Amino acid sequence: MVEYRRTHDCGELRKSAIGTAVTLSGWVHRRRDHGGLIFVDLRDRYGLTQLVFDPEKYPVCHTAAEKLRSEWVISIKGEVIPRSEGMANPNLSTGDIEIQVAELNILSKSLTPPFSICDESIDVNEELRLRYRYLDIRRGDVAEKLIVRHKAMQAARRYLDHHRFIEISTPILGKSTPEGARDYLVPSRIHPGNFYALPQSPQLFKQLLMISGMDRYYQIAQCFRDEDLRADRQPEFTQIDLEMSFGTPEDLLPLMEGMIKEIFQECMGLQLSTPFRRLAYDVCMEKYGCDRPDTRFSMELSTLTDIAERSDFTVFKEQISGGSIVKGLCVKGGASLSRREIDQYTSFVGEFGVKGLAWMKHQEQGLTSSIVKFFNEELQKELIERMQMEEGDLIFMIADVKGRTNQALDHLRRRLAKDLNLIKPDQYEFLWVIDFPLFSWSEEEGRLVSEHHPFTSPHIEDIPLFDEDPLKVRSSGYDLVLNGYELGGGSQRIHDSDLQQKIFQLLDLKQEEMEEKFGFFLESLKYGTPPHLGIAFGLDRITMLLTHTDSIRDVIAFPKTQRASDLMMACPSTVADEQLNDLHLNIKRLDFS
Ligand code: AMO
Ligand code: AMP
Repeated sequence: MVEYRRTHDCGELRKSAIGTAVTLSGWVHRRRDHGGLIFVDLRDRYGLTQLVFDPEKYPVCHTAAEKLRSEWVISIKGEVIPRSEGMANPNLSTGDIEIQVAELNILSKSLTPPFSICDESIDVNEELRLRYRYLDIRRGDVAEKLIVRHKAMQAARRYLDHHRFIEISTPILGKSTPEGARDYLVPSRIHPGNFYALPQSPQLFKQLLMISGMDRYYQIAQCFRDEDLRADRQPEFTQIDLEMSFGTPEDLLPLMEGMIKEIFQECMGLQLSTPFRRLAYDVCMEKYGCDRPDTRFSMELSTLTDIAERSDFTVFKEQISGGSIVKGLCVKGGASLSRREIDQYTSFVGEFGVKGLAWMKHQEQGLTSSIVKFFNEELQKELIERMQMEEGDLIFMIADVKGRTNQALDHLRRRLAKDLNLIKPDQYEFLWVIDFPLFSWSEEEGRLVSEHHPFTSPHIEDIPLFDEDPLKVRSSGYDLVLNGYELGGGSQRIHDSDLQQKIFQLLDLKQEEMEEKFGFFLESLKYGTPPHLGIAFGLDRITMLLTHTDSIRDVIAFPKTQRASDLMMACPSTVADEQLNDLHLNIKRLDFS
């Protein structure tokens, strides 16, 4: 049998090992023939080691090495020797030495890969990378990110274990939990016509574990949501999920700051300063137009409706009389933007459905733009003051319904920050967003819906508003935002069965539906439920920020595409008729084009 067990890995050997006999195994990264001598860079997860095949010293071995091709897996035995004068490579951990190979064994050959493994600088089409994900990971870039992900998980586990959280696995085959997305369903063979739902999160289980008295639970949990995918959303993703009893947000938030600190320390060697800032949802929406603002730069939004309605600008006045608002932001130094650039920003905000982008520049002669004439001197002064405009600045203004105005300005603000280089590299701005509304109104469904999920407790002092003005009720939920990404979210839970039932009623859940979906849970709340609260973080998103990527696919070993497909396994896929029969399923039609 070929002896391929390694004495060292490919990133390990240094000058101090010179003279040692070693066995190394790995992949042929590159082969170079240099008049007689053959050099091979041998690669494994840990690094590269240079092998040298000398025809004079080991002719058989040298002849065998002539046949080596990229990505073949080999094992060698040899002696560590110093590199010859001037040939050391300071960019390589093993760059001072090489191995004089005395024995070569080919463990497996490789087809020519569909893209270069050794040259990471070559941009490879993502579809091809996903189809051959195992080779893509071999290229190193994704592997590095997976290692950071591993470190983040380990740091979280260590921290939570230290703080007496118990890791408990909860079922994957379960019943729908209302996190707001569509469920992935699994048909039951034994119960014809019945389905399991894959968990959108372990929410109900973790609350039940508090009722069980487990006190502090955590899990690195796989979650499944059938929703529209974005750069930071996958149909299957991972949460660091936890729950604790007898605490309040004043206990949990600092505890979680400690965990995030530990993760950043472990993965980036970065010492974060705590406590993180907290901002109420209302203030957040007013200042940034969204509930996950990027606070690495200011450029805050201001409402200008009161000024705009006193102007003679009919576009604004008509919008306002139709119930719209006017909001704007000030771009420092923006007076130098060209008409073309302004036009580009106008079409950019148009993508969010707003009808235009008004602007004014503060120049030597005062405010300039085609609409300045509609604002008298006093209003211009007010605008300058409200927007804290100085000479050289520009303001952008949008008039539309609140939601669209906020959305367009939020995106404009992020785009401007990028274009104007307002974001420093390695800047991490954490923010807790608190005091969310408990409900929002769904036009689509014509009913109240939960802003977080229906188990979130309201602020106790807002309970009297339930019947008169439910949209004013604040929740005791909290989200952790980092650099414009929502990293995590959670809440103090309802631990009273009557209050939970009341919430279901406000959400317009019929008695029967309530019983069918959550009867077991409402019942469990009646058996001595401790006050409890929890949170879940998106591990994938945390890793994205730790590894400076803006695609969630980069931090998942085998991700799905934007269309929720696995290109490597070619799934989802059809199944055999027998399997459908076993599951008592009929496919209604097959022409889904
Ligand atoms: P929530 O739905 O806010 O809360 O999810 C928590 C965190 O999970 C991440 N996340 C996602 N990451 C990638 N792809 C997705 N499709 C996706 N959806 C969510 C986000 C988010 O902040 N059970 C509650 C938590 C609780 O109340 O304790 C929950 O799941 O980073
Ligand atoms: P108009 O009078 O339509 O030529 O518009 C004058 C300026 O107002 C242009 O710069 C438009 O982009 C801008 N504008 C039009 N509608 C809106 C709106 N709803 N909000 C902000 N600016 C607008």
